Amino acid sequence: MLGEVDVAMIVNRWIHLAAVIVAVGGTVFLRLVLQQTAGRTLSADQHDALRAAVIGRWARVLHVCIALILLTGGYNLYIMIGRHPGQPLYHALLGIKILLALTLFFLAIAITGRNLAFAKLRQNRAAWLLVNIALAGVIVLISNVLKSIPTGP
Ligand code: HEM
Repeated sequence: MLGEVDVAMIVNRWIHLAAVIVAVGGTVFLRLVLQQTAGRTLSADQHDALRAAVIGRWARVLHVCIALILLTGGYNLYIMIGRHPGQPLYHALLGIKILLALTLFFLAIAITGRNLAFAKLRQNRAAWLLVNIALAGVIVLISNVLKSIPTGP
């Protein structure tokens, strides 16, 4: 605390949002820009080689973002739950947000990884990327609502 300013919370929210921006922005770029452009301008072989290289690199950035989102989300949760006692709407929306976030993380890791168990998912990578972009949109909307629910007594 610095007077009325909760420095730890500000730094935590800053990192939470920065990691979200990189992860969601990167996913949108990958699906809506790179995939379309590469499909139009490269031969099938070149496209395959680029896809493998880009996904290999992107997976590393994504894993760091997911780790940061989980750590800062956990801290957010710990602090904010205490500020919303007896508010079922807040708790329910937060629960839904966490379930959607874990689904998003699972899909993101499955479609960028090499685990054989998820090979089927990777065959539909383009569709799952769109699903993840939609999930991110819903999660950001829920987060927005959560933030606008006044804290309890
Ligand atoms: C399990 C993972 C996550 C947990 C536990 C978590 C938890 C939280 C909590 C408790 C808040 C504060 C809400 C409030 O102000 O009352 C928050 C804020 C927020 N979260 Fe998450 N979150 C997670 C993942 C995500 C993901 C995946 C996204 C985006 C796709 C996201 C986007 C946001 C945004 C935009 C805010 C608002 C921050 C602000 O305006 O300061 N979160 N999160």
